[in-house]
Amino acid sequence: MAEEFDEFNEAELTADEAALLQDLLPELSDLGEARRKFLGQAATLGLGAFALNLLAQEQVFAALETPEGAMFAPIAEENAVTVKLKINGAEKAVTLDSRVTLLDALRERLNLTGSKKGCDHGQCGACTVIVDGRRVLSCLTLTAQCEGKSVTTIEGLASGDKLHPMQTAFIKHDGFQCGYCTPGQICSAVALLNEAKNGEASYVSTNLRTNAKSLKLSDDEIRERMSGNICRCGAYPNIVAAIREVHSGKESAQSWSFYTPDSELTASANENQEDEKNATV
Ligand code: FES
Ligand code: FES
Repeated sequence: MAEEFDEFNEAELTADEAALLQDLLPELSDLGEARRKFLGQAATLGLGAFALNLLAQEQVFAALETPEGAMFAPIAEENAVTVKLKINGAEKAVTLDSRVTLLDALRERLNLTGSKKGCDHGQCGACTVIVDGRRVLSCLTLTAQCEGKSVTTIEGLASGDKLHPMQTAFIKHDGFQCGYCTPGQICSAVALLNEAKNGEASYVSTNLRTNAKSLKLSDDEIRERMSGNICRCGAYPNIVAAIREVHSGKESAQSWSFYTPDSELTASANENQEDEKNATV
C-alpha cells in the first residue's frame, strides 16, 4: 500500500487529493497496477489544466484596466464576437460575448433601457422589439443572430418630439398603469399592424384561404395577436381600444379625463339625474 501511495506522491498531488485517492485504493486494488497509475496521472493532468486555466483568466483580468471613476472592473469577454447592426436607424458595432442576448446588449451595452426585462424566459413580452419589421422577444434572441439586421426599440418609434400614432393612442386610451409592459406592448402593436397589412393569419382567423391584404382585425383578432404580451395591471381593454383606433383609422372618444373641480360637479349632477330617473320608474 505504501508503495502505491508513493506512486501518487510522485504525481505531486496535494495532501487532500492523495488522502482521497488512498481511500479509494482498496476498491481499486483488483483493477491492477496500470489502472491506478492511469488514475494518478489523469488526476495530475486534470489539476494542472485547471491551474493553467485559472492563471490564464487571471492574466486576462489583470490586463483589463478599470476606467477611472468606474464602479466595477470591466468584465472579460469570452468568446467575443463583433456584431454590426442598425439600431433605431443608426449603424452600431458591438463587441460582446457571443452568448449575450439582444435584450442585455440593448440595456447594458447600448443604454437603451426602454425594452424591459420581465421574465427573461420568453413568457411575458416586456422585452419585445422589432427586428427587420417583425416582433421578436429580445430575451430569447442572441445579439450575434442580428448581424446586419435592423432593430427598432421603443426609443426609435417617435420622430423627434412627434410620437408614433400607437404611442399617442396608448396615452389617449389610458393603455397602461405602471407602464412596465408598455414598451413591449407598443412594439408588438406596431408590428401587428404590419402583419395585418400583409394579410397574415392568426390562431383565430376564420378564413385561412383568403389572400386578402390589409385585413380588418376584430377585437378578438387583436386580443389573440397581443396575447404574448402580459399586463399585470390588467390594462387590456384600453390596450385593445388603442390598437383598434390606430388599425381602423377611425377616431374614438377618449374614455378618461384629468380631474378638475368642474368634472366632479358634472359627475355628481349626472349621478343625481340618474337617481331621480330611477326613483320615478
Ligand atoms: S423578458 Fe422577454 S418575454 Fe419576458
Ligand atoms: S401597465 Fe403595468 S404591467 Fe402593464
